[in-house]
Amino acid sequence: MTQFPKNFLWGGAIAANQAEGAYNEDGRGLVQTDVTTGGTVDSPRYTTYIDKDGKPGKAGGMGHNARIPEGATFAVLDDYYYPNHKAVDFYHRYKEDIKLFAEMGYSIFRLSISWARIFPNGDDAEPNQAGLDFYRSVFEECHKYNIEPLVSIWHFDTPLALEQNYGGWKNRKLIGFYVKYAETIMKEYKDLVKYWLTFNEINNTTMFLDMMGGHGTDADYQEGYQVLHNQFVASAKTVRLGKTINPDFVFGNMICGITFYPATCDPADILAAEHKWQSGIYYCGDVQVKGAYGTYAKKLWTEHNVELEITEEDLDDLKNGTVDIYTFSYYMSNNVTTHEITDKVAGNFSAGVRNPYLTYSDWGWAHDAMGLQYYLEKIYDRYQVPLMVVENGLGAFDTVEADGSIHDDYRIDYHRAHIKAMSDAIANGVDLIAYTTWGCIDLVSAGTGEMRKRYGFIYVDMDDAGNGTLERTPKDSFYWYQKVIASNGQDLE
Ligand code: BG6
Repeated sequence: MTQFPKNFLWGGAIAANQAEGAYNEDGRGLVQTDVTTGGTVDSPRYTTYIDKDGKPGKAGGMGHNARIPEGATFAVLDDYYYPNHKAVDFYHRYKEDIKLFAEMGYSIFRLSISWARIFPNGDDAEPNQAGLDFYRSVFEECHKYNIEPLVSIWHFDTPLALEQNYGGWKNRKLIGFYVKYAETIMKEYKDLVKYWLTFNEINNTTMFLDMMGGHGTDADYQEGYQVLHNQFVASAKTVRLGKTINPDFVFGNMICGITFYPATCDPADILAAEHKWQSGIYYCGDVQVKGAYGTYAKKLWTEHNVELEITEEDLDDLKNGTVDIYTFSYYMSNNVTTHEITDKVAGNFSAGVRNPYLTYSDWGWAHDAMGLQYYLEKIYDRYQVPLMVVENGLGAFDTVEADGSIHDDYRIDYHRAHIKAMSDAIANGVDLIAYTTWGCIDLVSAGTGEMRKRYGFIYVDMDDAGNGTLERTPKDSFYWYQKVIASNGQDLE
């Protein structure tokens, strides 16, 4: 028998750059994903540019990790398809989509605001009114159905002009630009939005440096840790300021939650796995929830010869700008070993030792519902603040039958097991208050840029080359989740 608290919030999640499309409409500026090509499970996405001699080119890596040549300018090039430009057109279809979410019974809907719709270049003096109007209308639509918006202030989409002209988040000036943007939206929506998340999967910046096989150089770590520090300060300042705008605001961090296991019972593996929790998971959680760097942080910096620019004022901000709730995404677990890896998992992001007790998705992500219970219990014990699972889902190929139906029982199985795991964690004392599944609706994959890696309970007719009617069709999982919500998590059949 599953058990969820009476006011448990059920819903789904999307991100602006993966869902909205309309990338150059109504005054929106460009963001990093607008210059990022599509990829696949075994070919990376690229960031495109024009070099200083006017020659087009593409560089591996995305976001902070895209390394375009000295003097190059980020650019949209004619020869490539950029899946985020159109995405699934939430920008024009949000009313239809929110109506479908309401039909499923959502009480919460997680979405992000695109910074570049509000401040197209990031450093503009005045906000873009059309951008402010758009999100006001989206939030009003949510409230029409009693759906509480849960807003990510940043979901991988720093305005491109800030990358180009200031070098992105390694530059402290970004703190001021972000806080101004956050202040603008918090004031604008103070009566429409209560729940705010400052940075989506903030820990990715450094965690993926060692997850992709440990190829990060000292320079990468230097930049990565400085980026994180600047984001921590921006987050803390935003929390402090937000509480003066509306004391009822609830702020959360957002961590890419991966459960790390030792691959063997060799004590060296046990320790290596624990150290992975520190560098990958606790590093950010400790600063954002406890208000100070963890005891192990100095060792991490020394290991990579990192020297951070940290001021006394920063430390004060971190201490006084802690978040109220801990939120995270959970898709998989990962095995850590000090031994030679003979059976490695192939797939994007997962890189690690195969766990013989688990099965894997077509993209190499481990299905591990008990790993979610483990994560919830470990994290709650560490921080003792309310938790939200704000992303969890299965990226899979879907088949549309001749009659238009989509039988995604594999997705239902995945969610059923994870909901059961959440209930077990609650029974064990964890204060879990919300679950927003990833992709309530199909959208562009962040990692690969594919449409065919589908997560939604609602199918969107759009392929990897941008062909399709964008028509929405509920999958079997839609009706299943509807029952789950109506029964407050008791009917999982
Ligand atoms: C998280 C992100 O990394 O996982 C989302 O917050 C992302 O933006 C999701 O879409 C699933 O990853 P992917 O690569 O399958 O889209």
